[in-house]
Amino acid sequence: QKYHLQVPCCVCCFPWQLLFSQAVTVKLVRTGPVSYHLMQTSTFHNHSWVHQGSGWLGELQTHSWNFSSNAIIFLYPWSRGNFSNKELMDLEKFIQIHFIAVQEFGVNHLMSEDPFELQITIGCELHSGKTFVGFVQVATQGYEFLSFQNETWLPSPKGGRKAQKACTLLNLSQAYTHRIHRLLSDTCPRFILGLLDAGKAHLQRQVKPEAWLSSGPSPGPGHLLLVCHVSGFYPKPVWVMWMRGEQEQQGTQRGDFLPNADGTWYLRATLDVAAGEAAGLTCRVKHSSLGGQDLILYWTPHSSLGLILLAVIVALALLTGLGVWFMKRW
Ligand SMILES: *[C@@H]1O[C@H](CO)[C@@H](O)[C@H](O)[C@H]1NC(C)=O
Ligand SMILES: *[C@@H]1O[C@H](CO)[C@@H](O)[C@H](O)[C@H]1NC(C)=O
Ligand SMILES: *[C@@H]1O[C@H](CO)[C@@H](O)[C@H](O)[C@H]1NC(C)=O
Ligand SMILES: *[C@@H]1O[C@H](CO)[C@@H](O)[C@H](O)[C@H]1NC(C)=O
Ligand SMILES: *[C@@H]1O[C@H](CO)[C@@H](O)[C@H](O)[C@H]1NC(C)=O
Repeated sequence: QKYHLQVPCCVCCFPWQLLFSQAVTVKLVRTGPVSYHLMQTSTFHNHSWVHQGSGWLGELQTHSWNFSSNAIIFLYPWSRGNFSNKELMDLEKFIQIHFIAVQEFGVNHLMSEDPFELQITIGCELHSGKTFVGFVQVATQGYEFLSFQNETWLPSPKGGRKAQKACTLLNLSQAYTHRIHRLLSDTCPRFILGLLDAGKAHLQRQVKPEAWLSSGPSPGPGHLLLVCHVSGFYPKPVWVMWMRGEQEQQGTQRGDFLPNADGTWYLRATLDVAAGEAAGLTCRVKHSSLGGQDLILYWTPHSSLGLILLAVIVALALLTGLGVWFMKRW
């Protein structure tokens, strides 16, 4: 069997309120989802399985799975949370058995064609700041197949009879169902809280953005596409806007957040303007790391090159003039 492990590009959108929950004054910097999930992708093709496994705290990958040693890879020193080695080893054993069980179950009850793809997401999420809700989602060939909620396996409508049969079988295996339930309702929430605490320094870090401007492909004759690039910032929340003085330009289009390899973020904001109106526009960036000192970048039209040339010519002329004057006086 050939395994290969893909470490997906990933990121961190974050549940700041939890980090502050122990503090006397609870400071809501950002209310995002607090979640942890394990993600498995298994592909069966030409008589062999290829698995990929990873663990995610929100959008930040904290774990992956080593298929040659059948062990958890801890991507950060704090990825162990506050779990003991014994508890982590128990989890590791559970995951090892899980992969084998899924493979067997897949071959016997799910597989329909070759290649066959199975995706499993299992984890828990904090709801309304109080209770953790566990979830398991299974997809086959890219479609929802079945899910697990509240100690019950539920077939998805798209899963058809196969999904119904699989749910009945899974439900029959009460020990497994209970194990999953315990994992979701007890282990997962404890693990998240331990991770948030152990990883505090990393998760609460502030990294300043860098910004630069460029022009994009012309959106049409006589129009310019101004591009403001903002990169390397952390945490994710950021405000980027094209401005004229204090006036926000409503035509500003934000791109998607893209992750940098170091866990920081990249975002671009574009503005389509008539070529004559670009002068005087600025790109303004607000971010928590900047301590209220917004980044402001001024759009300098291409004629700025002309201005520089003009300045150089004037300077040369002056120098020449001075030279002539000196020579004359000599
Ligand atoms: C399937 O596997 C066999 C032996 O492992 C190999 O000879 C064959 O080329 C493979 N076929 C495809 C389509 O990958
Ligand atoms: C995975 O396990 C193998 C065998 O124990 C080891 O050689 C390799 O370094 C491990 N890979 C990672 C990324 O930890
Ligand atoms: C889950 O099941 C319990 C008892 O079986 C019930 O009280 C609760 O309302 C259910 N929750 C949901 C979200 O279905
Ligand atoms: C699952 O199993 C339990 C007990 O074995 C049973 O009471 C319940 O009706 C079953 N549910 C489904 C959806 O099959
Ligand atoms: C880890 O931290 C959480 C939250 O503070 C706590 O509930 C749990 O008991 C701690 N220990 C373990 C082993 O989970």
